Amino acid sequence: MNAKDNALLTRVGPGTPMGALMREYWIPACLSSELEAGGSPVRLMLLGEKLVGFRTPEGEVGIMDHACPHRCASLFYGRNEPGGLRCVYHGWKFAPDGQCLEQPNVPAEKSFAKRLKAPAYPVQERGGVVWVYMGTRETPPPFTGIEATLLPESDLRLSCSLRHCNYLQVLEGEIDTSHFGFLHGGAVAQEDLDPNDLNSMSLRDRAPLYHVAETGAGTSYAAYRDTGDGQIYYRVAHYLLPFYTQFPDGNFAENIVLDAAVPMDDEHTMIFTWMYTGRTAGVRRLKDGSPIPGLDRDEDYLPNGTGWFDRWRTVANAGNDYLIDREAQAARSYTGMTGVQLQDQAIVESMGGIADRTKEHLSVSDHMIVMTRRRILGVLREHQQGLPPPGLENSRIFQQARSGAFLADPQTPWREAYAEQVAAAFNPTGVLHFDPENMA
Ligand code: FES
Ligand SMILES: [Fe+2]
Repeated sequence: MNAKDNALLTRVGPGTPMGALMREYWIPACLSSELEAGGSPVRLMLLGEKLVGFRTPEGEVGIMDHACPHRCASLFYGRNEPGGLRCVYHGWKFAPDGQCLEQPNVPAEKSFAKRLKAPAYPVQERGGVVWVYMGTRETPPPFTGIEATLLPESDLRLSCSLRHCNYLQVLEGEIDTSHFGFLHGGAVAQEDLDPNDLNSMSLRDRAPLYHVAETGAGTSYAAYRDTGDGQIYYRVAHYLLPFYTQFPDGNFAENIVLDAAVPMDDEHTMIFTWMYTGRTAGVRRLKDGSPIPGLDRDEDYLPNGTGWFDRWRTVANAGNDYLIDREAQAARSYTGMTGVQLQDQAIVESMGGIADRTKEHLSVSDHMIVMTRRRILGVLREHQQGLPPPGLENSRIFQQARSGAFLADPQTPWREAYAEQVAAAFNPTGVLHFDPENMA
């Protein structure tokens, strides 16, 4: 990859082509639970813009430029009052949609409150997440509505996690399936795995074959292995524009999952994860039933602070070398770091704020990553020529994407096998049927 394309893909601030593309879509801004009714405003950095999020005492959410449109004092220090946020410098008050309501330091006949709007973005809440539209359209596009985002909050495990690096590194880590058998399961011995457990295939055969394809919504891969008894074991995963991934670690029938690598700025990313509570995760156990060392731990978080990058920080971080245990690494763990997320975090952050992709030496194992970069560059070029990004006019291409593992007949081409799985999952008579058109 040349330096120009690397910059094109990774720079997301105002005025950049990638930033403009992302701004066309609804973007996850924070969890609903982070904005308390009548509570403190929250600093939100999104696509290089310093914003504040708040929820009025009545429950309405606003996301606006943190700088007051009067003389740029930070609205983070504002008073969250009924009906809006009041700047504490001269008392100007703003409704959640940015409309100026009062200019109390200006004589009534000189007030231009009615004509003043603070730069605020349209918001909506869905399934426990606050979404923001930062694009240029007068009327925001319809909600993309990827399957997991349509589930009610009660059916979801939602989480956020901060990464100190560019979104593309995070995203590429999510679609880089061949690292699983090393970074996460590199110390697992073949003989410790149950040969009948299909989920453990990714640890038994660490160099699988792949199909990779461009799709309407992004790119997909299907890693496949022969089960030895006349069937093919597939693990299908997707990249969805502009920064989403669906991972294959679970049974297809109920694997409703989603990751969003949301750029805060060029060198900070917030990962949002949606997981359907009814899903069965993939490989986690050895044949004696004991957990696989290093795969079975949730991350520990520091309490959220108020700074731009103080939300959802892990206790283990670059400053303490992710609490690496070299003794464990030598004896029983590939990395000496505990937990899948932490292992991923350490590796993608270790590449630097923005990885220098001109220094890479790519192999066939990187096919999905190469195709995804090309796909994004292609969409960027079309967008610069004025074409609308995929999925804004036809959101069904997002709504009917699902990842997961399944078995299929060797005679059936992989895309047909996948289509059959999708048709079954979205069958109106099935248990799992989420028709976006019927959702509130
Ligand atoms: S700077 Fe906000 S009211 Fe003056
Ligand atoms: Fe990983």
